[in-house]
Amino acid sequence: MSKLSLDRVLQSQGFGTRKYCRALIEDGDVAIGGEVHDNYKALVETDGLVLTVFDEEWIYRERVYIALYKPANYECSRKPSHHPGVLTLLPEQFTWREVQPVGRLDHDTTGLLLMSDDGPFIHAQSSPKRHVPKVYQATTQDPVTQALVDELLAGVQLHDEPAPLKAVSCVQRGEHQLEIVLEQGKYHQVKRMLAAAGNHCAALHRSQIGGLTIDALGLGEGEWCFLEQSQLDLLVPD
Ligand code: URA
Repeated sequence: MSKLSLDRVLQSQGFGTRKYCRALIEDGDVAIGGEVHDNYKALVETDGLVLTVFDEEWIYRERVYIALYKPANYECSRKPSHHPGVLTLLPEQFTWREVQPVGRLDHDTTGLLLMSDDGPFIHAQSSPKRHVPKVYQATTQDPVTQALVDELLAGVQLHDEPAPLKAVSCVQRGEHQLEIVLEQGKYHQVKRMLAAAGNHCAALHRSQIGGLTIDALGLGEGEWCFLEQSQLDLLVPD
């Protein structure tokens, strides 16, 4: 059980500055259990708390864990320069909460992107020591050959890497389609590995991280959902 004043609750959920949250409460825009609460100092139990702000329900969450189906032409960087940032696909509250992508997908890569405001979670998930398999569907410019598959499985040397990088698994899915599973998350890794093996990545989609698939989440392009503990448990190393 833990109690917080109502203004702190609202601020922690990303509704804005403390001053703004106090104004919302005093203006009668915040209700709990159907009752307007206009005293910002009131202590509120956060366990199981459901707020109504501007007639919209918000479940209190100490930290948020989000899965987004990233569309092409969105940037994961904090200061996007050529395309809108992925945070523009989420409610504004998440920007206030400093939600960030866990790792990055290139602006033209689509698919499963995890996001959170839990620093230790982001750090642990992004650690190079954490070998969580990530499944990519790559469309290649030139036809896929057995030699390409063999080379990606055997390992290819990238410029700035001390040792060759290998795909954990690599399966041809069509004339120009390759399903490739990686455990590392190096910069442009799939594209660079394909280039090093003599082909070119024309399009890239991440369909799965650990045991969490975009299909099972039922997300369409640009859609997002909260992840619950049972889904976070699927993000385990192999
Ligand atoms: N590898 C890439 O080359 N790009 C991505 O976005 C992800 C993995």
